[in-house]
Amino acid sequence: MILESDRIAELAVLWEDLPPQEIVEAALDLFQDRITVASSFGLEDVALIHMACRAAKGTVDVFCLDTEVLFPETYTLMQRFSETYPIRLRRIVPQLTIAQQGERYGERLWAREPDLCCKLRKVEPLERALHGYDAWVTGLRRAQGPTRQGAKAIDHDGRHGLCKVNPLVRWSDEELWAYVRSEEVPYNPLHEQGYPSIGCVHCTRAVAPSEDPRAGRWAGFAKTECGLHL
Ligand code: ADX
Repeated sequence: MILESDRIAELAVLWEDLPPQEIVEAALDLFQDRITVASSFGLEDVALIHMACRAAKGTVDVFCLDTEVLFPETYTLMQRFSETYPIRLRRIVPQLTIAQQGERYGERLWAREPDLCCKLRKVEPLERALHGYDAWVTGLRRAQGPTRQGAKAIDHDGRHGLCKVNPLVRWSDEELWAYVRSEEVPYNPLHEQGYPSIGCVHCTRAVAPSEDPRAGRWAGFAKTECGLHL
């Protein structure tokens, strides 16, 4: 169901004060089998999958943009979720393998032109992942930094022509950790080794406790977003 923008704005106000679990439930009810959860298997995403599986009547549709250069820990966690949670996991891969990308654009594109690398390995695959859906669910939170301050519980995603649901938008780091721990949701061990935000191996480093949580993404570049959420 494609929603009118007035209806989306109305829902954003209504959902603003709901607990994330209720936003997930309301979104699944509203969009039925036309909604998909975007998961990089970060802390937000494992919490969301857990909530969605609890609320859903059947299997939860989940996709991961597998850049083919995710951390081994991320692949292990992805495997664990697909074996133990009632999800239909779509692994969306880029059109070019890393070797083909190297041949066409030169080796280590991420170190020279990270925007182009993200475009090839995440942004274009996202368009394919969302094709045919009316809504997607993401783990965006306002506490993640200045670029995410304006995120709403539900919004119109004009670029992809569907709704974007961000159930965790109001949660702090502490609230998210408390949920994951109390519900015993499996999570990426890298989070406890200085990686609050985990992307691809070449473009993610550990951060010091005093640093911005997103400082470890594309360190050395004036870049804090890959382009999925711009
Ligand atoms: S990113 O834009 O910098 O990569 P971030 O890692 O903070 O985003 O994740 C924000 C949300 O975007 C995640 O909670 C998830 O919903 C979605 N997302 C990010 N990376 C991926 C991915 N590789 N596959 C699927 N969804 C992703």
